[in-house]
Amino acid sequence: MKIKIAVNAASGKMGQQVINQVTTHQQAQLNAAFCRPNHRLIGRQVGYTDVNYSSDVSTGLESSDVVIDFSLPEGTFGLLEKAVTTKTPVIIGTTGFNDEETARIKKAGETVPVLLAPNTSIGVNSALALLAKAAKMLGKQADIEIIESHHKHKVDAPSGTAIRMGQAIAEAMGENFDDLKVTDSRFEKRTRKKGEIGMSVIRAGEIIGEHKVLFALDNEIISIEHKAQNRHCFAEGAVAAAVWVAAQKPGFYTMQDFLADS
Ligand SMILES: NC(=O)c1ccc[n+]([C@@H]2O[C@H](COP(=O)([O-])OP(=O)(O)OC[C@H]3O[C@@H](n4cnc5c(N)ncnc54)[C@H](OP(=O)(O)O)[C@@H]3O)[C@@H](O)[C@H]2O)c1
Repeated sequence: MKIKIAVNAASGKMGQQVINQVTTHQQAQLNAAFCRPNHRLIGRQVGYTDVNYSSDVSTGLESSDVVIDFSLPEGTFGLLEKAVTTKTPVIIGTTGFNDEETARIKKAGETVPVLLAPNTSIGVNSALALLAKAAKMLGKQADIEIIESHHKHKVDAPSGTAIRMGQAIAEAMGENFDDLKVTDSRFEKRTRKKGEIGMSVIRAGEIIGEHKVLFALDNEIISIEHKAQNRHCFAEGAVAAAVWVAAQKPGFYTMQDFLADS
C-alpha cells in the first residue's frame, strides 16, 4: 500500500518540487494538493494525476496519511490547526519560526507526529553531524563563522539551516547557541571576540542555498560547505521523511530522528 501524501502550498517552488517527487516515488502517491482560496490553480488537475488543486484542506487531510508543508509561518499554523483535528502527521519544511512559534509546533506533537526540518536535504543533515564532530575537536580554539547565501526572494534571515548549524556546533561544545551567535553588524565598533559564532547572510539572484562554516585557527582554516545544486535534494529528503513519519506515534521529530532510524 502506498503512503497517501498531501502537499500544502502546492503552488510554491518547493510545493511543485515535492509534487514531482511524490508522483515518482515507489512508496508514495499524491492524495491532495492545497492552494490558498481563489488561487488560479484551484480546480486544475495536478500534472497527470487524478488529483485537483484544492483549498479544502480539512477534507484533503482526512483521507491522507501525511501532509508536507513548505509555505510561510502563517500558512504552517493554518495547516497545523487542521492537522491536529484530523490527526494527520505533518512534515514542516517552512523556515522563519521564532521561539514561541517553535514551541507551538512542539506542542502539536503531543497530538500528532510532527517533523520540523529547516533543511530536509540528506547532505545538510550529514553536514550537521560533521559540524558537531569538528566543533568538539576545534570549537574552543577556532573562530567559527557561518556564511549562508540564498536567492533574493527569501524573507527570513539568517536561514533556518544556518541557525540549525549554529545550534549543532554550540550543543557539541556544551554551550547555548543564543549566547554565542552574533551578526555582521558587530564589526561596526569592535574587533572579533573569542568564542562568538558569527552569522553572515548573502541574498542575491536565484542562489538555491549555500552554507559554509569556517573553523579558523591562527595558521590554518578548516571549512565545511554544502551547496544545493537544485531544489530536488530538499524534496527527496522531505518525501522520504514523510513516508517514515506517517508510521510514527504522536511526537516531535527532526531529520536526525528519521535518519537514525533508517
Ligand atoms: N526545509 C528545507 O529544506 C527548505 C528548502 C527550501 C525552502 N524552504 C522553506 O520553504 C518555504 C517555502 O519556500 P519556497 O521557495 O517554496 O517559497 P515560494 O515559492 O515563495 O512558495 C511559498 C508558498 O507558500 C504559500 N503561502 C504563502 N503564505 C501563505 C499562507 N499564509 N497560507 C498558505 N500558504 C501560503 C504560497 O502560496 P501563493 O502561491 O498563494 O502565494 C506558496 O505556495 C520557505 O520558508 C523556505 O525558507 C525550506
